[in-house]
Amino acid sequence: MKKDLLKLLDLSREEIIEILDMADQMKYSQKHRIPHDHLRGKTLAMIFEKNSTRTRVSFEVGMYQLGGHALFLSGKESQIGRGEPVEDTARVLARYCDGIMIRTFAQAEVEELAKYASIPVVNGLTDFAHPCQVLADLMTIREKMTRLEGLKLAFVGDGNNMANSLIVGGLKCGMDVSAACPEGYDPDPRVLDFARGVAESRFELVRSPADAVRDADVVITDVWASMGQEEERTVRTKAFEGYCVDEALMELAHPGCMVQHCLPAHKGEEISAGVFEAHADEIFEESENRLHAQKAVLYLLMKD
Ligand code: CP
Ligand code: NVA
Repeated sequence: MKKDLLKLLDLSREEIIEILDMADQMKYSQKHRIPHDHLRGKTLAMIFEKNSTRTRVSFEVGMYQLGGHALFLSGKESQIGRGEPVEDTARVLARYCDGIMIRTFAQAEVEELAKYASIPVVNGLTDFAHPCQVLADLMTIREKMTRLEGLKLAFVGDGNNMANSLIVGGLKCGMDVSAACPEGYDPDPRVLDFARGVAESRFELVRSPADAVRDADVVITDVWASMGQEEERTVRTKAFEGYCVDEALMELAHPGCMVQHCLPAHKGEEISAGVFEAHADEIFEESENRLHAQKAVLYLLMKD
């Protein structure tokens, strides 16, 4: 494994599979109460410059279950919010802690933190990527479908952090990926370059959700206005008209098609309440798998 988990673009297919296999093992150990306190005495600093429920709780609980400790640093209340340079924060935290998880806006801030920290850094969401979430999604899909290779993943919605990470993660694991985004809301150009450069890649970016979802094995969506984009909500609601994952759209997918949503969801916007409830078991399994996938990442990055 590399020193950090900053974005899935940095990981090889083998490294992603290694994390998924370890995540399955972590889940098995937790369910069967097999001791796995491999990070005894270790501390993870968690920096949050945006809100969180799942990421905070799953990292904190995960560190506890691994025998270690996690501490919460709010961007606003720490010196980070008062402008202390990230390269200094990195060098200070590295002297107290064994790993850093950070949720923030700019991917460049996370990359900078990792450059100056001698300890592992994990991206807990930036505007560009949400690698931990997508590892949990891939784990959940493989768990239910027994494989990833050759399955069709359809993403419907904003070309945001989730879309970026799903395209990269899905393609690296041999899935066919179809993304439907309205004009002006495409995934990041670095992701599109990667997707178009993958040999044998069956990637498409389309405007019509129906084209993306046709014959899909898993349909994934996310909010239309991400954290930090709240003021664009009205404009976005208009731009995303017709992009709701509803019953009519799901009719076009394969029978037995899964639905994933990283949550929080805005039911009645990007997903209908009916589709959400029909797939609630898969969606909450996906939430649970954040815990197991992150324990795998923490173990692989922070073990001696
Ligand atoms: N899916 C996810 O990252 O949830 P939180 O924003 O609650 O952490
Ligand atoms: N795209 C969403 C994901 C939340 C987990 C956001 O960035 O707000």
